[in-house]
Amino acid sequence: MQTADHWESVYQNKSFDSVSWYAPHLDESLRLIEQLSQNKTAAIVDIGGGESTLVDDLLDRDYKDVSVLDISETAIEFTKQRLGSRSRDVSWHVGDITQYDFGDKKFDLWHDRAVFHFLTEPAARQAYVDLVRRSVKSGGYVLMATFGPNGPLKCSGLDVVRYDDQSLHKEFGKGFHLMGSELNNHDTPMGTNQQFLYCWCKT
Ligand SMILES: C[S@@+](CC[C@H](N)C(=O)[O-])C[C@H]1O[C@@H](n2cnc3c(N)ncnc32)[C@H](O)[C@@H]1O
Repeated sequence: MQTADHWESVYQNKSFDSVSWYAPHLDESLRLIEQLSQNKTAAIVDIGGGESTLVDDLLDRDYKDVSVLDISETAIEFTKQRLGSRSRDVSWHVGDITQYDFGDKKFDLWHDRAVFHFLTEPAARQAYVDLVRRSVKSGGYVLMATFGPNGPLKCSGLDVVRYDDQSLHKEFGKGFHLMGSELNNHDTPMGTNQQFLYCWCKT
């Protein structure tokens, strides 16, 4: 099945709070975003935002320039509906991150929770990193959350790549300066536990 079809099918058939990556709030991400971007006019993009409430929480914290991209139109529409009129304050993008281009838009902070680890092909990871290079301002931040070294081998029925801070940083290469990393345990709605790596760098 094509990537887009897979994710459309997930979001058409499962409720927002029954997927393994569900959390009422992405607390780790929020804490780190607030730490890295104290300026509320910072341009922030959430890659593969899905139906998560990160965008709601960023608007609640008065961030003025928030963008969300996802490959699933269904997920984006669900999130827009939840936000109601506030959805007009967000820039929405539907597309595959490995084939996307944000045009002239440049971000101060790039956030990705649980998308990059699905890129099992080196060419897809290279396309992703090339887009980060084109889209993040010099001096901006890249905040990534992937499965950690002891995380699951699959998610949503798809193979994933697990990372520690060094192996993730190596994917990004020259020009990215590793600033910090943390391991975190995510409690899934199924009662299981998944190890995540949060890793952030400066461009
Ligand atoms: C595991 S979910 C994580 C959702 C959200 N970031 C969160 O933490 O709740 C992965 C998300 O990435 C999206 N996605 C997967 N592959 C993608 C791709 N190649 N381009 C853009 N989005 C993608 C999926 O539609 C899904 O919403």
